[in-house]
Amino acid sequence: MQLIADNVINSTLNQLHREASSQKFTLFKSLSKGIFRPLQPVDFKDAYIAISKGQGQYIYDLLLKRQSKYIVEFGTSFGISTLYLGAAAKKNGGKVITTELLPEKCRVAEQNFEKAGLSDVIEVREGDALQTLRDIPDGIDFLLMDGWNDLYLPLLEILEPKFKKGTLIYTDNASFASAQPYLNYIYANPQKYRSQRLYDEKGGSELSQWIAD
Ligand SMILES: C[S@@+](CC[C@H](N)C(=O)[O-])C[C@H]1O[C@@H](n2cnc3c(N)ncnc32)[C@H](O)[C@@H]1O
Repeated sequence: MQLIADNVINSTLNQLHREASSQKFTLFKSLSKGIFRPLQPVDFKDAYIAISKGQGQYIYDLLLKRQSKYIVEFGTSFGISTLYLGAAAKKNGGKVITTELLPEKCRVAEQNFEKAGLSDVIEVREGDALQTLRDIPDGIDFLLMDGWNDLYLPLLEILEPKFKKGTLIYTDNASFASAQPYLNYIYANPQKYRSQRLYDEKGGSELSQWIAD
């Protein structure tokens, strides 16, 4: 497995992972807002809810092996996952387009990209992914789905025309009930997708591939 060799990126990531793992109370506070009403993204405005180091390293290695250049992400949060994507994009001579609904999270993520020396390869689109990703160019190599799970399916429908044969889609939190309509769609369309579960722990992750032309 190829690991990130850049010390500045690694130290930024280590610090952010440390902060993310010390957020048990923040997460509890966020989740408790869902007792009386459905949870909303703003309930998690202070929470990283990030991918794990293991997931990040897996994705980085995969992107290098496949020489992926055009990478798209739904759900930036404070930018932990985006730093793995950006590190790979920099090595591969590519770029990342990532999108986040909450402006405060966008600002902090941008600072983290600056600190890691990756601002030049990461474009942050602030707003609702269903709007911000509508006009991105065709030919996506790799898509990371890690935003609000019930938007996975409508977003996939918007992005499908921008896929090319071999496009990979890594979906976090694939075991959540709210992600099931999306997975049902993927498995109901074997002429378009090949798909497999990677992890069951931590919400589950699925790797899918667009196999149509
Ligand atoms: C699980 S977090 C992303 C974690 C991030 N990928 C990481 O690993 O560091 C999901 C993020 O999606 C954002 N989000 C939710 N709904 C969104 C929408 N409609 N458009 C864009 N971002 C959205 C949330 O505000 C939240 O920050």
